[in-house]
Amino acid sequence: MDQAAEENPGRRRFLGGVLATIQAAIAGTVGTILGGAVVAPALAQREESWLPAGPIGDIPAQQPTPVTLRIARQDGYAEVVDRRTVFLVRTDDGQVTALDSTCSHLGCRVGWDPQAGEFHCPCHGGVYDATGAVKSGPPPAPLARLTAKVEGGQVMVRV
Ligand code: FES
Repeated sequence: MDQAAEENPGRRRFLGGVLATIQAAIAGTVGTILGGAVVAPALAQREESWLPAGPIGDIPAQQPTPVTLRIARQDGYAEVVDRRTVFLVRTDDGQVTALDSTCSHLGCRVGWDPQAGEFHCPCHGGVYDATGAVKSGPPPAPLARLTAKVEGGQVMVRV
């Protein structure tokens, strides 16, 4: 052992404390950066809002009707508008359901085939019925259902 350190244990304790402080500062900085990178996107996705999707009178009963929602979000300093297509289905009791057009297999956009009364996915042949349930093909799950309501004759969809 170093003779100077043996002779001066206070100096060794002081240097140990300085090193511990530096390590704590580095760990705190790295933790803040990584934590922010992980938590910030999760918090950003939690922002939900109701968007107008058109008058209920424009949606024929039991006929899935595609509408495009414009979702504005902040991306850094710029405001970006995402477009999301959903199918609105008006039920006989005047309510409305909203189905996401994203195929649950690999994310292609499904289309409504009025003759067959089914949603078809152009990518791998997935088929869904009018409620969004899988009829055939590779999709592992039904089409995602979004919360929708009718307010003052206007369909509102929560995204
Ligand atoms: Fe739709 Fe594969 S992405 S069936």
